[in-house]
Amino acid sequence: MARFLFANLVTFFQLSSSVPFNTFDGPGHPACNDVAAVHDPKSVDEIVTIVRDAAQKGTPVRASGKGHMWYDTMCSDNSSTIIIRTENVNAISNLSLPTGAADGSVMIEAGVTFLQLAEYLHDKGASVGYTLVNWNITLAGSIAMGAHRSSLRNDSMVAAGALELHIIDGNGNIKVVIRDDNNDDWLAASTSLGLLGVIARIKFKIYPDFKVYAQQKVLAENEVLDGDIYGLIAPYGTANFWWWPYLKQFHHRYYDQVPTSESTQEGFQSTFSVTETEADIAKGLLNSGQNSSFFNQLAETTFFNLWSPPNFHEKTTDLPILTWPVYGWNYDVLIGGLYPGYGTEWDFGLRGLTLELAFPVTQANEVLKRVRKAFDDEFWENGKVMTSTYRSGINIKFGKPYFDLLGQVTTNTADGADWSKGALMFDFPTFQPTEGNKERYNEPFYAKLATVLINEFPCRPHWTKNTRDVFKQAVEAEKLDPDHLKRFKAVRQKFDPNGIFKSVVGEILGLY
Ligand SMILES: Cc1cc2nc3c(=O)[nH]c(=O)nc-3n(C[C@H](O)[C@H](O)[C@H](O)COP(=O)(O)OP(=O)(O)OC[C@H]3O[C@@H](n4cnc5c(N)ncnc54)[C@H](O)[C@@H]3O)c2cc1C
Ligand SMILES: *[C@@H]1O[C@H](CO)[C@@H](O)[C@H](O)[C@H]1NC(C)=O
Ligand SMILES: *[C@@H]1O[C@H](CO)[C@@H](O)[C@H](O)[C@H]1NC(C)=O
Ligand SMILES: *[C@@H]1O[C@H](CO)[C@@H](O)[C@H](O)[C@H]1NC(C)=O
Ligand SMILES: *[C@@H]1O[C@H](CO)[C@@H](O)[C@H](O)[C@H]1NC(C)=O
Ligand SMILES: *[C@@H]1O[C@H](CO)[C@@H](O)[C@H](O)[C@H]1NC(C)=O
Repeated sequence: MARFLFANLVTFFQLSSSVPFNTFDGPGHPACNDVAAVHDPKSVDEIVTIVRDAAQKGTPVRASGKGHMWYDTMCSDNSSTIIIRTENVNAISNLSLPTGAADGSVMIEAGVTFLQLAEYLHDKGASVGYTLVNWNITLAGSIAMGAHRSSLRNDSMVAAGALELHIIDGNGNIKVVIRDDNNDDWLAASTSLGLLGVIARIKFKIYPDFKVYAQQKVLAENEVLDGDIYGLIAPYGTANFWWWPYLKQFHHRYYDQVPTSESTQEGFQSTFSVTETEADIAKGLLNSGQNSSFFNQLAETTFFNLWSPPNFHEKTTDLPILTWPVYGWNYDVLIGGLYPGYGTEWDFGLRGLTLELAFPVTQANEVLKRVRKAFDDEFWENGKVMTSTYRSGINIKFGKPYFDLLGQVTTNTADGADWSKGALMFDFPTFQPTEGNKERYNEPFYAKLATVLINEFPCRPHWTKNTRDVFKQAVEAEKLDPDHLKRFKAVRQKFDPNGIFKSVVGEILGLY
């Protein structure tokens, strides 16, 4: 099907007929439904050449990091689209962290992943603090889409760590945008959705490396729904909940800095490691739950019990760590990766769908109670017991306010809601059955829940964890600030006058 061509020293797949460009979930999970070519440049200069060529022809072009997104929203629906995969453009340079300084900086290229940067920095006694997402994802892709960890106290938007963004614009010129809250170019570039161009280099903020602990407690559902949610999260460097709706329990996970001398333990976290046997058992159980709440209740109970002890190994011996708290280096504890010899859930065919919306944390109790009511209504009205079909439950994350035009935790928006204390993110991953019609248990519920939450609360969608329909509803319900959209559009027109970097997200937002 695909044949290799060599042109201008740039390797790319010229696809003889249009084919999808897939997410990390592989075939059947398109990020773009129809693309004409996938380029694998090896340097920033090569990316510039590809963009210039595309600009001349008016060819639509999108950058891609690791494809760690969920829906067909990366590109616009144009089969002439070309993809620039940034994987091989991943140099790290110019580390600066003078002894005794509170922070410093490093220059990274588009394809640098969190794992790659963390290993590089750890060797040199540095880290990126809490501006992290996950291991096999690029910082550039994360910044483009406003990705974040979970914290009300510390900066945890990845963009919050960016000091400079070097963007290849719609004419193929590199524009250096420097952090400046009074400049709309910066406020648009900070969460650009990839619409200003290819983020080619990032000057990123770093800190002296530090150790952290991880602690986890089980809370009864009412302790959260009727509790001081802000007070359970804000004291820590990073903290989140995992909700188990059938069991009516939460896991409360929190992390913070400790002195390096506190412990010699070197904990290494893994959220996604499974053996093939474990994956097969989970898949069997969850597929059986496609039309049966019994198997989903069994699955949730199993997952809850597996999630209660630490999901950590000692890095030096690869032996499981059995008791909380766990100690170790910043990146290893906050993210980690895969245990040796294990695969990811998606390597073994466990696929998920998701939905993520951010709400003002001041309305956290009302939002979670509304979701609880939606679960209960399914039982009383339709006889369906709703459960978490994901191995770590429903993820409830948080975000410190960070001002830019299109970020999930921005403030001072026309909705008049109080975002100044930060946001709660409701991130609802669910198992996608591999059998029959592939619909989830009680499939209509998920769209219904999204509509209820969008219509009843001020909210903002995560830019890679929602369907086109969720974005459309958010726009129709005027959840996004019209003035922010207008200002963003003006910057977009300046950077990309011919719209070659267009995506369906940008189109739904009315930016074209
Ligand atoms: C297992 C897993 C866990 C995750 N955890 C979190 C989380 O905790 N918090 C969170 O917020 N998100 C999370 N995400 C979402 C993830 O951070 C985003 O989807 C991110 O954009 C993926 O980056 P990527 O490098 O894989 O980019 P891709 O998926 O390849 O691209 C994503 C988008 O960014 C654009 N893009 C990519 N690179 C560039 C570039 N260099 N310049 C301009 N545009 C670019 C693409 O065109 C596309 O529109 C998670 C995803 C997965 C799969
Ligand atoms: C798709 O892109 C081509 C340029 O390669 C352009 O001529 C065409 O109008 C675009 N199609 C749509 C539907 O926008
Ligand atoms: C990271 O993603 C790439 C695909 O871009 C994949 O080939 C590789 O195996 C992944 N690495 C890990 C550790 O999951
Ligand atoms: C690194 O710093 C030097 C000196 O300030 C500068 O000339 C060079 O362009 C920088 N490299 C990158 C990749 O930014
Ligand atoms: C986290 O926040 C605390 C309290 O504001 C601050 O002292 C610390 O420097 C921050 N650390 C990082 C890595 O962001
Ligand atoms: C569940 O029902 C759907 C629709 O009837 C069907 O396609 C699917 O195969 C069923 N799943 C199982 C595991 O029986």
